[in-house]
Amino acid sequence: MAANFSKIDNVLNKKFDKKKVKIRGWVYRKRTLKDKIFLVIRDSSDIIQVLASKGSKAWKDAQKITIESSLELEGKLREDKRAPTGFEINATKINIVGLAEDFPIARDTSPEFLMDVRHLAIRSRKLSAVFRIRSKIFYLLHRYMHEHGFYEMDPPMLSSAGSEGGAEMFKLKYFDTKTAVLNQSWQFYAEAFANVLEKVYCIAPSFRAEKSKTARHVTEYWHFEVEAAWMKMNDMMKLAEDIISYVCLNIVKENKKDLDILGKDPKELLNIKAPFPRITYKEAAKKLKIKYGNDFGIKEERALMKAYKKPLFITHYPSSLMHFYKKRDPKNPKVCLNFNMISPFVGDEIIDGSERESDLNKIIEILKKEGKDPKQVDWYLDSRRYGAVPHSGFGLGIARLIMWICGLDHIRDTIPFPRTVNRISP
Ligand code: 4AD
Ligand code: MG
Repeated sequence: MAANFSKIDNVLNKKFDKKKVKIRGWVYRKRTLKDKIFLVIRDSSDIIQVLASKGSKAWKDAQKITIESSLELEGKLREDKRAPTGFEINATKINIVGLAEDFPIARDTSPEFLMDVRHLAIRSRKLSAVFRIRSKIFYLLHRYMHEHGFYEMDPPMLSSAGSEGGAEMFKLKYFDTKTAVLNQSWQFYAEAFANVLEKVYCIAPSFRAEKSKTARHVTEYWHFEVEAAWMKMNDMMKLAEDIISYVCLNIVKENKKDLDILGKDPKELLNIKAPFPRITYKEAAKKLKIKYGNDFGIKEERALMKAYKKPLFITHYPSSLMHFYKKRDPKNPKVCLNFNMISPFVGDEIIDGSERESDLNKIIEILKKEGKDPKQVDWYLDSRRYGAVPHSGFGLGIARLIMWICGLDHIRDTIPFPRTVNRISP
């Protein structure tokens, strides 16, 4: 067969009615009747039904072809409301490119098995839609940041120490005598860069050696982190809500069909417009009847979000719960100038951000109070020693954003090859 294959979505959009079309892809479904074989073919863009009738040139190959075989085919297109995407190709010619062995997923679809054969499970229509959206979200984040004067800067993956606490780091032997840890967050490096390029961001992996077996924790995730000189807490919150609104709006514009496949109502995402509601930790704790000073977990965040249709900012957490780098509120040092953004419907913390403490003496005081040796973060403190400026930043867990946008109830479905406590393969 000569070239000039059309992508399936192009065939569907152009509605080349009664015209000859050529496509190539993989067999997603097969149903054999006495004198008809129905195939559903998938490519990267969509699926389409194909009919091979007894007596046609395509019949023999249609009989032979198996689920997940690859093929090229030619046929006539016609509208058919009963077909899964509204059209059917009446095949005149089929060329089997790779005849597939018996595809294992047809027999066993338990969640554990699907993770064992993740490299095959990613072929599903649902996951294809998720990954098209995932790809678009990465692109939209880059596009937004470049259009708003941010520089992309990359963090190192190997360091001698992490920024988010000792227990959650993956350690590895670094040559003969040293130990290295895998990047937990780009933040310390970003803060150094805020004094150089002023507005910076990265999209990079973060690693967390967390044993949490929840629907929202993985040990490796892609982290979108932003840091900017001169910006105060409120500026950073406005930026965060603007980015999230931008992503939601453009996913509806550009990936409507994928949302349909996932059964996600686009109206829900079109409603995501700034400003987002804001409450303080104190108000949230009161609503949830939680003792002031206790941290929120999944249960609390999910319960809280029942009342909201937009992402919610929770601000001003007790300083006792917060890392030393978060700025204490000058009006009330018992709370921080920090914010978490919680996703609606799902109810997960998707963003964690704050204004940073830029005063060297205050940071050292906090570190000492916590019994930490300031020498351990000495290089980091140089950003305060040499030309400190007010600055703020945040980190967004991209997988959790995808979970909400796609309406999924487990983080593993948002990640091509998820890494969890129990799984590092395939
Ligand atoms: O809340 P975290 O730990 O904050 C930081 O790392 C800051 N240094 C970010 C910054 O200010 N630059 O992580 C930020 C976000 C969380 O809100 C969450 O969305 C996501 O990263 N995240 C995880 N996602 C999946 N699996 C995990 N184990 C995650 N841990 C955090
Ligand atoms: Mg957090």
